[in-house]
Amino acid sequence: MTVNESTRSADHTDVDRTIRSFNARRGRVRSGTAEALERLWPRWGVDVGDDFSMASLYPGRETDDLVVEIGCGMGETTLAMALAQPHRRLLAVDVHTPGLGAILRGCEDNEITNVRVVRGDAVDLLSGRIEAESLDEIRIYFPDPWPKQRHQKRRLIQPAFVRLASSRLRPGGTLHCATDWPDYARQMLEVLTAEPSLRNKFEGFAPRPSTRPTTRFESKGIAQGHPIADLIFSKTAT
Ligand SMILES: C[S@@+](CC[C@H](N)C(=O)[O-])C[C@H]1O[C@@H](n2cnc3c(N)ncnc32)[C@H](O)[C@@H]1O
Repeated sequence: MTVNESTRSADHTDVDRTIRSFNARRGRVRSGTAEALERLWPRWGVDVGDDFSMASLYPGRETDDLVVEIGCGMGETTLAMALAQPHRRLLAVDVHTPGLGAILRGCEDNEITNVRVVRGDAVDLLSGRIEAESLDEIRIYFPDPWPKQRHQKRRLIQPAFVRLASSRLRPGGTLHCATDWPDYARQMLEVLTAEPSLRNKFEGFAPRPSTRPTTRFESKGIAQGHPIADLIFSKTAT
């Protein structure tokens, strides 16, 4: 079986698994974070290929809202939103370890107990570990913009991925994306609008919600004069 075939889920065969939406770079794990990673990973972290379920990640909290943040980066936003919404279970996924370590450390420092981190590709998480219609919200803040024309096929927000993401939302659940790249913003609007199981909560782009803190990547975009676009769609009843 090829890697391509082995990572496909039965009902979502069209996400092209040969295309990676992320950079292969590996950031450095600082020594304090490395120590936190080693100590806290067994409690709050999993690799996407591990054997786990939402029930095993959050024992006793099965009925709380479940939110997935895709591409959490260094996790400042993850921590701020987890603190602001302690009643919701927040699952943060990224392929890179340093940010996940920073999140675990931040959780311990701030006594945050509603965050779990997953290392790996969000496509594998959604297709292999998240049940259909089980999520209250998916957050995708500043996904890699892949600005060069020849790289744009690597952008995460593509029709097949959006179909997969939407299938994991419960009816009424929210898909919230943000970007600082105008042509990616237009692509997001087009792709999300074209997905029949989603409905735009606004006319075109959304006003920036006060609940979304400024992310690290967003700050860099703002410093370069980029406009920020939020897109907030809800899952229609099935
Ligand atoms: C441009 S950074 C933005 C990070 C953060 N959200 C922010 O706004 O500062 C995009 C992040 O998404 C992660 N990423 C990209 N594709 C991913 C995928 N398929 N699964 C998980 N993480 C992914 C990258 O590793 C990177 O950390």
